[in-house]
Amino acid sequence: MQNKRILLGITGGIAAYKIATLIRYFIKSGAEVKCIMTPASVDFISPLTIATLSKNPVYQSFWDAKTGEWSNHVALALWADVLVIAPCTANSLAKLAIGLSDNLLVTTYLSAKCPVFIAPAMDLDMYQHSTTKRNLQTLKKDGNFILPAQSGELASGLSGEGRMMEPEDIFKAIESFLVADSALDFANKKVIVTAGPTYELIDPVRFIGNHSSGKMGVEIALELARRGADVILVLGPSNLNPKHANLKCVSVQSAEEMFSVVKKNWKSQNIGVFSAAVADYKPKKVANEKIKKSDANLTIELIKNPDILLWAGENKKNQILVGFALETENEESNAKAKLQKKNLDAVVLNSLKNDGAGFGGDTNKITIFDKDNKSIDFQLKSKTEVAKDIVNFLLKMKN
Ligand code: CTP
Repeated sequence: MQNKRILLGITGGIAAYKIATLIRYFIKSGAEVKCIMTPASVDFISPLTIATLSKNPVYQSFWDAKTGEWSNHVALALWADVLVIAPCTANSLAKLAIGLSDNLLVTTYLSAKCPVFIAPAMDLDMYQHSTTKRNLQTLKKDGNFILPAQSGELASGLSGEGRMMEPEDIFKAIESFLVADSALDFANKKVIVTAGPTYELIDPVRFIGNHSSGKMGVEIALELARRGADVILVLGPSNLNPKHANLKCVSVQSAEEMFSVVKKNWKSQNIGVFSAAVADYKPKKVANEKIKKSDANLTIELIKNPDILLWAGENKKNQILVGFALETENEESNAKAKLQKKNLDAVVLNSLKNDGAGFGGDTNKITIFDKDNKSIDFQLKSKTEVAKDIVNFLLKMKN
């Protein structure tokens, strides 16, 4: 973990005493560690211990009473490769979930652009409370990584879920995130990935959309980022909020918006993976006001959207371009026709006839066809595993 910069946030729970061990793991691995302690945490472990082990001054408040110096939370957040909040009490969890910024740690969290890991630790009943569950869900949706609490003996005497994940396991989770286990075989490669649905407005409250969750494309983008690629993810409306130091996520709504991001960036990319479920048509006119109901039927005239992948294929120069085909009939011939027509190097076929494949779910079953008429069939797998298969296939084409 040489040169990796860990910002560690410590909140006021009994598990704070274990953080000394966690800091030792980080320091031994070669990482640099800076710590922020909340006011409540100093009752559980002394700032002197934390400062000594982390080899850095400890940040405790917005300004230092002795020197009068201000702690720059924005600079601290930008310094970090990763922010780890451990232990994270129910109180801090709630603050993070709603963005309350009444201490240096939660304020720094709001400024953080790096991935954030949260290791909750609290008593059994607090951990099981619907409020805590809701807060954890919110933080997960916001793109944070939750290091779930473990089962075991708790300080209250109760036994059950709520113990902070052991320092060794927290360390391993961060290490495997920061140091890719596979080689950085996409280092120096620029990749643009499109993902998710597009929403085409009918009026201010209605749109034409589809069931795509964006999961498949997001997993591909993350796998590429982990393997060293510089990734632009152009993501249509989605609940997902992926974060990685090598990933820039640009959120868009409509096909036109997605197209303009692709047009601006395609020339400088080495690889394009277009997995978005782009609406082929959009309403000819978007009503300025909500369309009111009347006794008559309503007809909406649709016009064609730009075909983003087709444009990228027509403007391809020494680049690798992969598209997706979602088919319900004549799967192979339709997929191959798309490969030809859009000047692709490969096409990934999802058949909606396969159970567990396609939109929404966590699994997918794909076949990849390449321009030399070769094809590979893959088993039904989690979308994370499918993403690895697709990226491994890209690697072969790249080399
Ligand atoms: N695609 C795109 N822009 C569009 C439509 C599709 O970039 N306006 C891309 C998708 O991201 C996908 C591929 O084209 O990689 C195939 O999309 P699909 O909808 O399956 O094919 P279409 O060409 O739209 O044909 P059809 O809907 O008739 O199957």
